[in-house]
Amino acid sequence: MPAEDLKRRAAAHALTYVTDGMRLGLGTGSTARHFVDLLAEKVHQGLNVLGVPTSEQTLAQAVSLGVPIATLDEAGPLDLCIDGADEVGPGLALIKGGGGALLREKIVASAAREMVVIADATKKVETLGRFPLPIEIVDFGVASIQRHLAEAVRAAGCEGPLTIRRDGDGHPFVTDQGHLIIDAHLGRIPDPARLARAVEEVAGVVEHGLFLGLARRAVLAGAEGITVLEH
Ligand code: A5P
Repeated sequence: MPAEDLKRRAAAHALTYVTDGMRLGLGTGSTARHFVDLLAEKVHQGLNVLGVPTSEQTLAQAVSLGVPIATLDEAGPLDLCIDGADEVGPGLALIKGGGGALLREKIVASAAREMVVIADATKKVETLGRFPLPIEIVDFGVASIQRHLAEAVRAAGCEGPLTIRRDGDGHPFVTDQGHLIIDAHLGRIPDPARLARAVEEVAGVVEHGLFLGLARRAVLAGAEGITVLEH
């Protein structure tokens, strides 16, 4: 089955967790896009929800489809956050940020009573790290931040090139919050909590794409059907 169909199935399953009156975090990426599409259909059938988008991209989609939206400050604490992931590891530890929205995604997920991950089953891994870990940094002293990050990564038992993410025109990719992203190509992350702590200690790091202890459920769609992992 094509990956897009699997993503849509995972999104459709997550929609069954949504009840009337909920305040929802709306994730970013191709899987979250399916969720917002399906949510919009329900809204047009009378479902009353308030969405908090995690990116300008999702904001534009929600507005265009008529999903009621608010900022996180307007909405207050959220009932549920539904978002995709680049990797889903043991204990529902995640790598996120392939789309560059990790900072707002982490803030919104942290504001929700529950985070549900939606993904096709290929995102499930035994060890995180095959997908490059996005690290959002300020646009000042970039080479120095990069050097310190390389040391931090090594101290946490990981190794691999750290590259500045570029857009299609070869310019540095700029996030919705005006920051840059360094992608850490580590291959495997034996101890995600240790790496998270090490990266957070580097001055200039705004956020990283390790989401640890945030997701309560992961809805994974594979050829054989839906699997729901809980933690
Ligand atoms: C956006 O910044 C990311 O965290 C996405 O949630 C993640 O990259 C998953 O995207 P897809 O659903 O497109 O794979």
